[in-house]
Amino acid sequence: MDKLVVRGGNPLVGTVRVSGAKNAALPAMAAALLSEETVILENIPQVRDIVTERNLLTAMGAEVELGYGRAHHRTTISCRNLVNAEASYDLVKTMRASTLVLGPLVARMGHARVSLPGGCAIGARPIDLHLKGLEALGARITQEHGYIEARAERLKGAHVVFEKITVTGTEDLLMAATLAEGESVLENCACEPEVVDLAALLTKMGAQIEDAGTRSIRVRGVEKLGGARHRIIPDRIEAGTFIVAAALTGGDLAIANCDPRHVGALLSKLEECGVKVAIGEDSVRIASSGPLKSADIVTEEYPGFPTDMQAQYMALATQAEGMSAITENIFENRFMHALELVRMGANIKIDGHRAVVRGKTPLSGAAVLASDLRASASLVVAALVAEGETIIDRVYHIDRGYERIEEKLRSVGAQIRRIGRLIPERAPAAVAAE
Ligand code: UD1
Repeated sequence: MDKLVVRGGNPLVGTVRVSGAKNAALPAMAAALLSEETVILENIPQVRDIVTERNLLTAMGAEVELGYGRAHHRTTISCRNLVNAEASYDLVKTMRASTLVLGPLVARMGHARVSLPGGCAIGARPIDLHLKGLEALGARITQEHGYIEARAERLKGAHVVFEKITVTGTEDLLMAATLAEGESVLENCACEPEVVDLAALLTKMGAQIEDAGTRSIRVRGVEKLGGARHRIIPDRIEAGTFIVAAALTGGDLAIANCDPRHVGALLSKLEECGVKVAIGEDSVRIASSGPLKSADIVTEEYPGFPTDMQAQYMALATQAEGMSAITENIFENRFMHALELVRMGANIKIDGHRAVVRGKTPLSGAAVLASDLRASASLVVAALVAEGETIIDRVYHIDRGYERIEEKLRSVGAQIRRIGRLIPERAPAAVAAE
């Protein structure tokens, strides 16, 4: 199994380019299920989860072509001949976002059979709100042998109020509502940029959607959706990870090809920590400006501080002078990285949903274990300032969501290399997170 070996101490200097957003690409690929025509997606990141999604769609009879590099990271999907409306346990257990096929399959095919995802490293993560929403649209839902079955002649527009804000729940229902008969109003929706990007793609396919990006989305169902060509937005979490890495190593780094509006909460917080930030049209430059100061964060739904940046921020807080309180409000068990950071020399106390980091403590390289996608990013970032060598095990987590992270970091001065096999063919089972 691959490991990353990082020798700390180098500031990051130069320019790093951000890839397309994994969390926008996954629902966009699922949206292709809604149409018989071809959907062409550009700026798809070359990460493991995209391969899983490709496998998920091809198992249903879709034709999916993945092109990288000069092919503009273009993916062409044709779902003309779907033969099997099923997402198997084997795939769902490695990637929870597989459940995004549920809404589109019932809407287009009239039925879907999707494995229940089960628990994961960062929390229980049920999908009850997806199911309640689909029931409100008229689907009959049953559960047997660990699978959810959903059936409907044709979905009917409805008024759905999410009890809790859910990103993939909003996306799943949004896709389903595009082919429902009549109008749907979805309330208490997620406003994440990935939801807005999905709505933009669906609109190009012929859907009638108003107010995506607000808490209340209105959808007028249509009979059929067509094909479309769409460019996926930049990955705000990858951008955020480089932003934190630059601030932490005291470098001078331009993060290019990103959307600075999508990382607003992080940038304001870093300014509070004393980091110098310059915002361009599609780039952010982070420059070293003396010692880091502590600042508290609370994770929230967009546009608040993202839970997917909490682990990386914690690594930064270990090097800030003073006490930083980190409150995790989205997932119940998202502090696994803290224990590994402590092994590297951090002073972190956890009390339920709150972690208190006391800095600055020197970090020293150690053998550490990545428990989930963003936890592994946090360990990489911490290793960049640790004394000596850090060996990060279970990097298949990082390969799920970061494109060639070690190459990108090396190109701006980090000492990082991968040992073991190249990217494994399959991630080990039962480790899904995100
Ligand atoms: C998405 C992101 C993930 C991010 C998370 C929160 C993708 C593929 N993944 O995950 O990277 O960390 O948003 O920003 O986009 N919940 C329920 N019932 C449901 C659905 C959710 O109780 O039916 C709860 C969850 O357990 C969690 C909270 O709602 O506590 C938010 O989860 P949700 O927004 O659904 O996360 P995901 O969409 O799975």
